[in-house]
Parts: sequence; C-alpha cells; structure tokens
Amino acid sequence: MTDYDALAARVAALTEGEEDNIAKMATVACELFHSDARFDWVGFYRVTAPNLLKIGPYQGGHGCLVIPFDKGVCGAAARTGETQLVDDVDAFPGHIACASSTKSEIVLPVWDRDGVLLGVLDIDSDQPSAFTKSDAAFLENLMMKTFCSAKRA
Ligand code: SME
Repeated sequence: MTDYDALAARVAALTEGEEDNIAKMATVACELFHSDARFDWVGFYRVTAPNLLKIGPYQGGHGCLVIPFDKGVCGAAARTGETQLVDDVDAFPGHIACASSTKSEIVLPVWDRDGVLLGVLDIDSDQPSAFTKSDAAFLENLMMKTFCSAKRA
C-alpha cells in the first residue's frame, strides 16, 4: 500500500521547478509504479490531436500506442473529464485490453494550470477491485499539484 504522503513529497522534490510535462510524467510514472504492489501498469496517455490520446511515459508491459477519445477507459476519462474507477474491466463497455492480466483500473484526466487537458493517468492492476475512492482523491490531488502548480520564482 502506497505511503501517499511520502510519495507526494518525493514527486514534489523531484519535479520542483520543472516545466517540461513529459519529464514530470516520466517521474510520476516511475514513482507510482514502484510504490505499490497493486500497480502493474502505470502510465500517461497524452492529447496529441483533437480527440486523440497517444502513449506517453509509462512503466510495465507494452501499452497500446493510440486511443481515440471514444474508446476505452482512457477515452472515457478524457471525454468526460472525470476519474474512471473500474472494478472489473471485463464489465466496462469498450475496454481496451492491452494486457489480458489486467482486472481493474483507475484513469484520471490531467490538466495544466490553464485548464488545458494534457492527457490521462492510467493505472492498471492484475487484482480485481484494486482501487478505492481514497486512491482517486490522492491521485487527483497529486496530478493537480504536479501539473497545475504555478512556476516558482
Ligand atoms: N486500459 C486502457 C487501455 C490502456 S492499457 O491498458 C495500457 C483503456 O481501456 O483505456
């Protein structure tokens, strides 16, 4: 189980003053992946064209490269702007199975400080119902602090 306070402090220290979103995504993916045995795949999909997500920094097995906004759990998070907590991926219409071992997942939209949608954070687990509302609340806060914070002087 993640020590979320320690993780948030590490991410803040590692990304302090960094303005490059890819560098921040890579750091967050690495820190999250190694923080919790429930997390079997952690990564970002980035908005690279209207209604299109493309793979960004990730840890774990292969992720599919392109996800349109109308496909999968990632597409639903990007389209609705709402966190998707999926206890059973087989019950989610249009779920994209990049790894057949995945049983549950959480996907959050990620915005910059101007409210521009950068992409989504996708965490997959081989355990069913691995994620809770408190995971969602922490991760939403981490995304806000990491990608929406004003540049420090
Ligand atoms: N689970 C995602 C697809 C991406 S991969 O699993 C890495 C989805 O259905 O959106």
